[in-house]
Amino acid sequence: CGIVGYVGKTGASSVIMDCLRRLEYRGYDSAGLSVLNGDLQTYKAAGSISELDKVLPAEIKGNIGIGHTRWATHGMPNDVNAHPHCSSDIVVVHNGIIENYLKLKEWLEDEGYEFVSDTDTEVIAHLVHFNSNSLDLFEAVHKSMAVLEGSYAIAVMSKNNPDTLIASRKDSPLIVGLGENEFFTSSDATAFVAHTRDVIFVDDREIVKLTPEKVEFYDMEGQLLEKQISTIDWDVEAAEKSGYAHFMLKEIHEQTRSLQKTFAGKLAELEGNVRLTELKLTDEQIRNINRVEIIACGTSWNAGLFGKYLLETLAGMHTDVSAASEFRYRDPVMDENVLTIAITQSGETADTLAAIRNVVQYESSTIAITNVVGSTITREAENVVYTHAGPEIGVAATKTFTAQLIALYLLAIYMGRKRNYLLPDEAKDVIKALKELPGHVQQVLNQRDQIRKNAAQYADCRDYYFIGRGLNYPAALEAALKLKEISYIHAEGYAAGELKHGPLALLEKGTPVVAIVTKNRTYAKMLSNIKEVKARGAEVIAVADERDREIGKYADLVIFVPATNPLLSPVLSSVALQLLAYYTALEKGCEIDKPRNLAKSVTVE
Ligand code: G6P
Repeated sequence: CGIVGYVGKTGASSVIMDCLRRLEYRGYDSAGLSVLNGDLQTYKAAGSISELDKVLPAEIKGNIGIGHTRWATHGMPNDVNAHPHCSSDIVVVHNGIIENYLKLKEWLEDEGYEFVSDTDTEVIAHLVHFNSNSLDLFEAVHKSMAVLEGSYAIAVMSKNNPDTLIASRKDSPLIVGLGENEFFTSSDATAFVAHTRDVIFVDDREIVKLTPEKVEFYDMEGQLLEKQISTIDWDVEAAEKSGYAHFMLKEIHEQTRSLQKTFAGKLAELEGNVRLTELKLTDEQIRNINRVEIIACGTSWNAGLFGKYLLETLAGMHTDVSAASEFRYRDPVMDENVLTIAITQSGETADTLAAIRNVVQYESSTIAITNVVGSTITREAENVVYTHAGPEIGVAATKTFTAQLIALYLLAIYMGRKRNYLLPDEAKDVIKALKELPGHVQQVLNQRDQIRKNAAQYADCRDYYFIGRGLNYPAALEAALKLKEISYIHAEGYAAGELKHGPLALLEKGTPVVAIVTKNRTYAKMLSNIKEVKARGAEVIAVADERDREIGKYADLVIFVPATNPLLSPVLSSVALQLLAYYTALEKGCEIDKPRNLAKSVTVE
């Protein structure tokens, strides 16, 4: 979900609608806003922001307001469950989950409150209202926070405090934007970056008081805090489509730059090394690492699997990869010499944050790989390696994924060199290929028309399979995830050698099987797998090196990618298969940037 708050000099409703449109990628099940102008004027609608627009009157007066775009957790996405939620003269928008809401609801019902929605958020509205009987809005929110369990970023207004907006957070992102005589608060800067790039990151359990004159930050003891102002290092164009039909297509094309930006200034080609000055790990700590644990979700988890292969191959480090949602409830065997790497483009995924918090008890080293400066993970992990992909709006990750891969190549080379596992010449080969990568990505992008035709050919199929070995296996997993997310075609990624242990039973005449068969030590094995699936009548789309003269004999269709170091070719295959997923979804007329039931940033468990 995404929340917005605005206090300023111009009509709040149009500013909030603009912010909500920019935030829509965080959830688009329903939306709503409230503007305060003597009275509270609240409007809500199920569906996207454009549905909300339809129910708004031509003019809403008032210079202070809150808004919300929802990704349903508690309760169906309908008008009643849409935010803001109100309790008499109090309105609230909320992102997160209140875990003790049932207990609070029962108690508030005993106090005479009537609940109209199925949401956990409504308890916040009633609770603040209950507390505001004897306190002003700031104090009422402050008191309410003491009993709320779970996660929240909230923005609250009251008819009785006409110039004040109160915002607060716990385990859910919140940021304040400082304009000229106007202030914003939101789940992320994308909402208001068109108005200001000066921001303050709100920390857990801080309360923010926004009025037309100033913004003040307080801790739970009620002490006024001194906060640091940061500047967002991208501008509003970065979060706009700039002529592309979809954000996803734009972001796929931006990969030539985003990859380059992620390794810029870090490659020391002559020495066969990389510079990661942001890491605070000592040489001794690095030498003592006995295992690496990578934790992540979704696409970042697929990047994590890449990381395993890379850290093993380039640094000789035993690496495990866990879905963060599993890691946090397992009994992992950890000690102070296990290095934990959390990968999360948003830096806000609830499961990943919870997992990294679990690691603190081992007093071991942690590294976060993230794309969002100032995100929560950057405060939870001891070290941060940023990907510099710029804002990603399409829900299906593309440029942040490949930028994560670059960060992992850098880390693996760095570790390999520090641990004297990787020779300078071996490192030089990978570094050289990294430098060539943006140009190679461009060559893949140049084939979009061909890939579009290939996509159209299979757009009506029911199932799709993606197979690969070695580093091409995580590439297969990610390609399958991309396709299912945006085209709703059932797609599975498999380690090619596993096909015969089950999935072969599912292949029928004409089932498309994408075989990632760029040259590596398993090339010959992949050719056997291709024969296996062809024998069952499947149609094989191969992703192969441009220099491969053999592959045409085996596959029905070939998408060629530039030949490069085998460790790097999965990046190119991934870009080609992002295009395949994109054009398949386009052919099917899907909502590419906002696939059903999904959201960009999952800040709830
Ligand atoms: C959501 C997004 C995915 C993303 C995953 C993890 O499911 O739709 O694209 O891969 O969250 O997000 P993170 O921000 O932690 O990388």
